[in-house]
Amino acid sequence: EVWNPNGKYRVVSTKPMPGTRWINLLIEQDCRVEICTQKKTILSVEDIIALIGDKCDGVIGQLTEDWGETLFAALSRAGGKAFSNMAVGYNNVDVNAANKYGIAVGNTPGVLTETTAELAASLSLAAARRIVEADEFMRAGLYDGWLPNLFVGNLLKGQTVGVIGAGRIGSAYARMMFLKANGEQPVTWKRASSMDEVLREADVISLHPVLDKTTYHLINKERLATMKKEAILVNCSRGPVIDEVALVEHLKQNPMFRVGLDVFEDEPYMKPGLSEMKNAIVVPHIASASKWTREGMATLAALNVLGKIKGYPIWGNPNQ
Ligand code: DGY
Repeated sequence: EVWNPNGKYRVVSTKPMPGTRWINLLIEQDCRVEICTQKKTILSVEDIIALIGDKCDGVIGQLTEDWGETLFAALSRAGGKAFSNMAVGYNNVDVNAANKYGIAVGNTPGVLTETTAELAASLSLAAARRIVEADEFMRAGLYDGWLPNLFVGNLLKGQTVGVIGAGRIGSAYARMMFLKANGEQPVTWKRASSMDEVLREADVISLHPVLDKTTYHLINKERLATMKKEAILVNCSRGPVIDEVALVEHLKQNPMFRVGLDVFEDEPYMKPGLSEMKNAIVVPHIASASKWTREGMATLAALNVLGKIKGYPIWGNPNQ
C-alpha cells in the first residue's frame, strides 16, 4: 500500500498500523509511505531486505523482526537514516549495529504504560478469581447450580503484591494494585526489597524487567521453588524472562500456583504442556493492545523516523 507516491522521502512500515495520524504526519512532511500488507505475520530478514529496496530513508518495524547487522547494513546501503520499533521493548534490535551504520533507533515508551499495566492487573485478578476456567466451564454447559465449592479463588485484599522491574510499567501496575486494596496498607509494593525476598513473600508477582542477558531466565526452577505454593505470577514483559519449561513443570507439581502470561519464550509457540494447564491463563502478547495506545505507538514510531530524516528530536531513543 502506497501513500503520497511522489513524496521526497521513502518511509517503509513493515506492517499496517492502527489509525491514520501516523500516515498523515509523514505525508505532511513530504514522505512517500509504503506499508507492507503481506499476509505472513512474521517477516524474515529477506522479506525486509526486499522491502527496503534500493532507496529507503527510514523504516518502522515490529518486535517480531530481527533487526541486526544484516538489516541495518541493507538500510544503510539504501541511504536510510532511521529505524523505529513500534514497541517500548527493543530486545529485537541490535543498537550497536545500528550505531555502526549511523542509523538512529527509536522506540515508543510512555503511551503504553497504563495499558500494559492494566493487562497485568487484569491477569492478576483473573488468575486470583479463576475467571478463564469458570468461563470455559459455563460454555461447556457444565454449570448445573450454585455450589459452595465452585471455583473458589483468592481474595487479593490484604495480600502482598510484588513487582520485579519497577520502571514505568511496573510502577503503574503497583499503583493499580494498591488502589485495588483501597489504598490500605496490606498490599505492599516490594520495590525496596531484594528480588529473592519479593519472590518468597509476595502472593502476587508481576514481572516488568527489560529482557537482556541479566534477566534471561530470571525466573527459573530454583526461584519458582522459593515462591508460595498458592502464588500468582504474571508476565507482560518478555517471554524469556521465565524458563518456560521449568514453569510448566512447576504448574504441574503445584496446582494451586497460577500464572497469567502475555508473552512466551518462543513466540508464537508455547512450550509443550502449557496449553493444557488449568492454572495458566495465556493471551497472545496483547498488553499494549488498546486503541489509544496502539495509535499512539504508531504515531511515535512515525515521529521517531521523521525526526531523524528532518532533523527533529527523536521521541523514544534507547541511546539517551
Ligand atoms: C512492547 O511495546 O514492547 C510490547 O511488548 C508490545 O507493545
